[in-house]
Amino acid sequence: MLTKINHIGIAVKSLNDAIPFYRDCLGMAFSGIEEVAEQKVRVAMLQVGESMIELLEPTSDESPVARFIEKNGAGIHHIAYEVADIEVAIAKLLADGARMIDEKPRHGAHGTRIAFIHPKSSGGVLTELCQAGH
Ligand code: CO
Repeated sequence: MLTKINHIGIAVKSLNDAIPFYRDCLGMAFSGIEEVAEQKVRVAMLQVGESMIELLEPTSDESPVARFIEKNGAGIHHIAYEVADIEVAIAKLLADGARMIDEKPRHGAHGTRIAFIHPKSSGGVLTELCQAGH
């Protein structure tokens, strides 16, 4: 069902402050910033091998990422697994009794379709399913 780790999401207070470390110190390929209005975040993607680091900066105090930072500080926010067919993956998880935050896919960055599994069903780790766009 899962094909690879697509990305690891990291909550940051400021993309401008965080990007130079990943792009310049670690040498990751930076592919630009995108705003995902639905989740009230600005997202920067940095490539490392087949996977990415997704830096998440809240654009509002109401953003779930803002609440995460308030509670836990900046740091690892979620892990995202790539799936070939997100509807099939959601249906399987629901059939297996997993609790989903998203029972229907929603729009992620870069044309992806995403759905989050509730951390109560994944040992406290916020887990995203991600189907590549196009
Ligand atoms: Co993500």
